[in-house]
Amino acid sequence: MDALATPPATDAASPLEREVARRRTFAIISHPDAGKTTLTEKLLLFGGAIQLAGQVKAKAERRNTRSDWMAIERERGISVVTSVMTFEYEGLVYNLLDTPGHEDFSEDTYRTLTAVDSAVMVIDAAKGIEARTRKLFEVCRLRDIPILTFINKMDRETRDPFDLLDEIEKTLALDTAPVTWPIGRGRDFAGTFDLTRQRVRLIDPDGRHSPLSEPIDPSDTAAIAKLAPGVDAAATAEELALVRDACNPFDLAAFREGHLTPVFFGSALRNFGVGDLLDGLGANAPSPRAQQAAGRTVEASEPRMSAFVFKIQANMDPNHRDRIAFARLCSGKLTRGMKAKLVRTGKQMSLATPQFFFAQDRALAEEAYAGDVVGIPNHGSLRIGDTLTEGEELSFVGVPSFAPEILRRVKLADAMKAKKLKQALQEMAEEGVVQVFRPADGSPAMVGVVGPLQLDVLKNRLSAEYSLDIGFDSSEFQLARWVTCEDPKRLDEFATANRSGMAEDLDGDPVFLASSAFMIGYTGDRWPGIVFTDIKDVK
Ligand code: G4P
Repeated sequence: MDALATPPATDAASPLEREVARRRTFAIISHPDAGKTTLTEKLLLFGGAIQLAGQVKAKAERRNTRSDWMAIERERGISVVTSVMTFEYEGLVYNLLDTPGHEDFSEDTYRTLTAVDSAVMVIDAAKGIEARTRKLFEVCRLRDIPILTFINKMDRETRDPFDLLDEIEKTLALDTAPVTWPIGRGRDFAGTFDLTRQRVRLIDPDGRHSPLSEPIDPSDTAAIAKLAPGVDAAATAEELALVRDACNPFDLAAFREGHLTPVFFGSALRNFGVGDLLDGLGANAPSPRAQQAAGRTVEASEPRMSAFVFKIQANMDPNHRDRIAFARLCSGKLTRGMKAKLVRTGKQMSLATPQFFFAQDRALAEEAYAGDVVGIPNHGSLRIGDTLTEGEELSFVGVPSFAPEILRRVKLADAMKAKKLKQALQEMAEEGVVQVFRPADGSPAMVGVVGPLQLDVLKNRLSAEYSLDIGFDSSEFQLARWVTCEDPKRLDEFATANRSGMAEDLDGDPVFLASSAFMIGYTGDRWPGIVFTDIKDVK
């Protein structure tokens, strides 16, 4: 099948369908340092979203503009915010959802992955599959998200490309289909051979997107040597013959089902291979997919607007203490000023200032379609997992909460501020900064996190935004599990019998706190019918 066919037909029947068809909403998954930031910058350059290379990469600058308030981020030099960047390229609208690099904020990343239709997996050509790539890949696989692979840093010493493909296939159980093939590597990296079009693209020394050559026969060593004089043309021709004989051809259906990944080789730093990757996304990545709600599936081209919130971010602009809910549109058309129903409360809210985000700017979103992500400023009315509709009682499922790996009791320096702390923790939990569990015995609230940096963020923000000075006490509990039972009476009996270990989460759902995995197993054995889970869909 032609890997780089022309973009899918946009002559679909209705204007709404046309808008849906031209959208690609995706994220980049990678291990830290593989080149996600550099690739993001280069993708945005293609879309004209930024004028000069270096604007996204300028992490110092990014810190100033996006999250100056968070001293901890400055100190540690990590990005802990997630946002979205929209750009247009060759008639298509790309929504790139950014994910935090640090694993302590992986909950944020998992939630963001519920809002994309495809992902680009960036692999360092010298390192291959690393731990975090693998973990994030597994999250994508749970949702059958199609994945394109970009093997980066081909301009450095690399592993053998066949080895890298083999590793992807073996460790991820994912078929690979190279779309381009490197000509030379490391210092000799000259460009790639486009396996679909049988043409060569050479690196432009100035980082421009160079044109493809005329078609050449991959076994024609003289032609290769002429185009790329520095490389071993015979070795390249040999590799290309092996690729032809041994590698899978691209198969759109297998890709869309998440069984096969098209592979592109390049160097984000040298701005090479990025255009081919973008073409691959445009031609083959799915347009916004149907989304699962409780009771029914919502098609992207349905006329009525629906959306869900997957991320809340406070203080994006240090000059205006603001709180933005990021909502992914699932169907219909959002028009600025329209009224939407917040299904959890049944209340109407006016979408007066929905926003689109670009590399450095934001703009009012006059209209948005399925696949788009809009930021909705609010003062606490929206929570992660919320569904917005034009009136329908609909609840999207699949924005998950994960059982925390660390539990701490919050220690308040000034006991007079207990009420304020309660409110502050509620808001932090609604934003997804931490999870909060309120013990049934009335003892102080517990916070649960996946990684310790989240505790630092909580402490910093409570101090900066609420003037609350807190500390953390370790707790006798190490684990939290949501408990459910088909028989509500039995669940009540369980809660009463285990009162000292029971707590409520943000939604009021019962949680069992335990000192060890052994305790959970032991209690489970004694209470058949009670189900203990470590993942919960946010309501
Ligand atoms: P990340 O967001 O995945 O963590 O990676 P990032 O883009 O920040 O890249 C990590 C390092 O790898 C950076 O170098 C970056 O310049 C380099 N890099 C990215 N892509 C390529 C590539 O294609 N080829 C080569 N040779 N290097 C690449 P650094 O020295 O850590 O940072 P900086 O001093 O350049 O900011």
